Amino acid sequence: MKTVIGTDLDQALAHLRAGQLIGIPTETVYGLAANALSTAAVVQIFEVKKRPTFNPLIVHVHAIDQFEHYASHIPEPIKRLAQIFSPGPITFVLPKKENIPDIVTAGGDTVALRVPAHPLTRKLLAQLDFPLAAPSANPFGYISPVTAKHVADQLDGQIPYILDGGPCQVGVESTVVSMIENEVAILRLGGISVEAIEAVVGKAILQINQSSNPQSPGQLKAHYAPRIKLILGDLSELINQYALSKKAVLAFREIPTETTWTAAASLSEKGDFSEAARNLFAALRRLDQTDAEVILAERLPNFDLGRAINDRLERAAAEHENT
Ligand code: TXA
Ligand code: MG
Repeated sequence: MKTVIGTDLDQALAHLRAGQLIGIPTETVYGLAANALSTAAVVQIFEVKKRPTFNPLIVHVHAIDQFEHYASHIPEPIKRLAQIFSPGPITFVLPKKENIPDIVTAGGDTVALRVPAHPLTRKLLAQLDFPLAAPSANPFGYISPVTAKHVADQLDGQIPYILDGGPCQVGVESTVVSMIENEVAILRLGGISVEAIEAVVGKAILQINQSSNPQSPGQLKAHYAPRIKLILGDLSELINQYALSKKAVLAFREIPTETTWTAAASLSEKGDFSEAARNLFAALRRLDQTDAEVILAERLPNFDLGRAINDRLERAAAEHENT
């Protein structure tokens, strides 16, 4: 199969209506999209991603008023969050209606719904009469794609079309929110911070587990992982420790000058969290393409978006015991 990268909405629509997969831009990361109401279409997502079927998918809709087509009940705090943060990098786990196929929810009785903010994908959704199931468009366990080229780098020849919406503006995945016993629970850290959510609904429970048999696969300990071993800690100490190794360095602000390296990247020289999130996955991919033996990286201050970035760095550093 030849993979075309382009900006032709009609072509994208035709593939989706024919039950095929395409790459789509969102404000967070690129998605691998299919008709969420078609089991035959969604099965291919799992095949192409090599994703275990116990992993449920996010269903993307055009507007929050569509939630009620797919969810049987929308609790009040979720309504408030959706009104404030959607369209945007937030996903809501809600009790599902019958029309959502089991394959989408991994057989569970909840469905994850999200209204993406990217204008091209919003145009797609406006013209479709079905929602789009879409995980991040990377092979299972690897770093999420934030450009059309990243998608093609790994899925070339496996999907007919990638809708090119330029580089993703947020750069980390959506925050996944649920209700657990009448309280708002955050299942995955992401583009909307815990602080922003708590400012709307008060204290939220954090359920960011790292178990080996998770309900939510985004919670797998090893995820978002480069091929080269990534080590997280104090950069100066690590650089000393790995003095004799070929190393790649991933700094939050300025790249340290006290050493030589094979490759180095700064997430944001001015220390801006949004810029750092936008640069994170592209930097990891670039460093992963070098012949370094290790990638040395440092955590960000652990608040706001810094927390979501740290979560991704920690999973990138975890051993691949689960994936
Ligand atoms: O930003 C994003 O959310 C991107 C873009 C493409 O929209 N999508 C994405 O999908 O990150 P994926 O499949 O890589 O991650 C989906 C996350 C996983 O952590 C999954 O476990 C969780 O959402 N999830 C999906 N359905 C769920 C459900 N019913 N209950 C609990 N967690 C669910
Ligand atoms: Mg993913």
